[in-house]
Amino acid sequence: MANKTWLITGTSTGFGRNLATLLAKKPNINLVATARNVDKLAYLDKFNQGQIKKLTLDVTKPAEIEEVVKQTLKSFGSIDVLVNNAGIGYFGTFEESNRDAVKYMFDVNVWGLVDMTRSVLATMRKQKSGVIVNFSSIGGLFSFPTLSFYHGSKYAVEGISEAIAKEVANSGIKVMLVEPSGFRTDWAGRSSEKVLPEIKDYEQFKQFIVANTEGAHHEAGDPEAAAVFVHKQRTLGSLN
Ligand SMILES: NC(=O)c1ccc[n+]([C@@H]2O[C@H](COP(=O)([O-])OP(=O)(O)OC[C@H]3O[C@@H](n4cnc5c(N)ncnc54)[C@H](OP(=O)(O)O)[C@@H]3O)[C@@H](O)[C@H]2O)c1
Repeated sequence: MANKTWLITGTSTGFGRNLATLLAKKPNINLVATARNVDKLAYLDKFNQGQIKKLTLDVTKPAEIEEVVKQTLKSFGSIDVLVNNAGIGYFGTFEESNRDAVKYMFDVNVWGLVDMTRSVLATMRKQKSGVIVNFSSIGGLFSFPTLSFYHGSKYAVEGISEAIAKEVANSGIKVMLVEPSGFRTDWAGRSSEKVLPEIKDYEQFKQFIVANTEGAHHEAGDPEAAAVFVHKQRTLGSLN
């Protein structure tokens, strides 16, 4: 059986890095690890026997998406698993959130995922197989104050993913949603902009943002265990 090819977005830190590390240790898997800055992917070098490609990818840049898909197919001939992992956060009350900043978050969390997915579907339909793994969040199922726009982006990921799953079911393609709660990654730290409330009526929510900032990297969830879990779904054959 031909080696399967995984393409992952946002592998510099967090879930993406843990999943890429796990896959890199398996020489029978082709891995395309992507990041905005490929210098951050040096951790993969010691595993590379020709089965790993490191490519530059900002998911908000369609030309880079197109190039990554082209390079993946040129190197490995298939795309069997696309992991839409790249994502950022934003803490702030709905009223005080910066419009441009939250629009950018939608560009990454929603449109990045959409453009990536659309760029691989024709290949997967031709293969009559493929798995699309979309990182949503517990925040795609429940909502908390000061995260309205993050929730909006992840609820969008949920709805889009569920509809795609129905459209591609007859083409041998599966869509999987990952809905983590708090995990020890960079998400609550450098990957989330925070706007503390200044309006007195929202003062009570300041502590929630402060607690999340201070709690970054101390969350209960272990991203290495999450990577094992995601990979297991695939190898158990439940997806494809
Ligand atoms: N950690 C949690 O508790 C948690 C819970 C639920 C859901 N999630 C979701 O899990 C996913 C992964 O996040 P994480 O927790 O692993 O956090 P993380 O450590 O901050 O990783 C986020 C990754 O996304 C990348 N990224 C950001 N903007 C990008 C862009 N425009 N194009 C390409 N890559 C970009 C980052 O790359 P750079 O190094 O270039 O910034 C980084 O590799 C996200 O979708 C997040 O919403 C996380």
